[in-house]
Amino acid sequence: MNQKISLAVVSFLFLFLFGASVQADKTDRLIRKANRYFEALPQTMPGSENDTPARIELGKQLYFDTRLSINDTQSCASCHPLGDGRGGMDNLPTSPGARGELGDRNTPTVLNAGWQSSQFWDGRAADLADQAREPILNPIEMGMPDEESVVKKLGAIPEYIEAFAKAFPEHASPLSYANLTEAIAAFERTLRSESRFDDFMGGEKTALTTQEQSGLNSFIRHNCIRCHDGPVLGGTLIEKLGVYEDYHNTEDQGRYRVTGDDEDRMMFKVASLRNVAVTGPWFHDGSGKSLEEVIRIMGRIQLEIELKDDEIADIAAFLGALTGKSLESGYSGE
Ligand code: HEC
Ligand code: HEC
Repeated sequence: MNQKISLAVVSFLFLFLFGASVQADKTDRLIRKANRYFEALPQTMPGSENDTPARIELGKQLYFDTRLSINDTQSCASCHPLGDGRGGMDNLPTSPGARGELGDRNTPTVLNAGWQSSQFWDGRAADLADQAREPILNPIEMGMPDEESVVKKLGAIPEYIEAFAKAFPEHASPLSYANLTEAIAAFERTLRSESRFDDFMGGEKTALTTQEQSGLNSFIRHNCIRCHDGPVLGGTLIEKLGVYEDYHNTEDQGRYRVTGDDEDRMMFKVASLRNVAVTGPWFHDGSGKSLEEVIRIMGRIQLEIELKDDEIADIAAFLGALTGKSLESGYSGE
């Protein structure tokens, strides 16, 4: 071989390998950095220690049973559909209840919900069981008049008497409202939705594309992590929505509705960002029509920064990598 050519080949190879190793170093650093702020999804959800198969199975039956509503039309799954690529919510701005009346808040996903420190947009329920008490009795949602009527209705169904006895063998009266909510919570604690991001966190460098990695970098660098961190990238803090600039809709004052405390005006739970790409429309009022728009607004009102279009596109790509692997192929219509 001509000496000049072989020199060119050697230097090309050198630069190529050098370039690749610089890139690999950069990815290693990003993985280490990400592990400081986030956490790969743990195997089990808090509180799942006593979730026996019988309890989970009962919870699943209840979750899909329309008889938990006043006119037998609505189950938890009506607003929080699962399976067939559905992301644990109905993709509507706000959801119709058993009698067709619309609620005033967007339905959050039930996937991975148990890793949050509180439930609901305003964090008013402490955990999943506490949360499950509300929709059944909510007049706009499932509309049952009170706990006793729910227990009475289920008590007339022999399969439930048996299933509750199996799920709560140590209880004197297994069929109770508290056990019903505990069983539903046990089922929800199985709704674990792992994504490519978890593989990346675990050291698999090619699990995220270059653009998704840039987005992750921007997400950290621009300080979205101040609020969105931990295993579900949120769900642990109650923060003001509109730190630097008012949110565009101040009708719903968030936690203020629960406490009546002026300090709680516009305080909302920091949303979990797991599966966020498939759970639009976004925000507690369902007014966020595209993920890009939502990211721009977050930068503006929570951080006082004007994100550039390419940064927004990168962050949106990163958020897309938080979609559960079983949902990545998407939902293909009603
Ligand atoms: C009519 C629609 C509807 C039905 C039926 C319904 N939900 Fe919801 N769900 C919502 C809405 C809307 C919210 C948010 C309400 C709020 O924050 O004030 C919510 C919140 C939740 C949350 C909190 C998630 C989070 O991130 O904070 C969980 C968990 C949940 N629902 C589970 C259930 C279960 C279990 C049932 C059945 C017992 C059920 N839902 C029935 C609409 C519904
Ligand atoms: C000061 C805390 C804070 C910071 C910083 C912050 N967020 Fe948020 N984020 C929130 C809160 C609170 C919500 C819930 C909004 C609501 O109640 O409608 C939210 C909601 C979101 C949502 C919508 C979730 C959904 O399911 O509707 C996305 C997406 C989001 N944030 C992305 C980001 C990005 C990207 C950044 C950085 C540019 C960021 N956030 C910075 C507090 C914050």
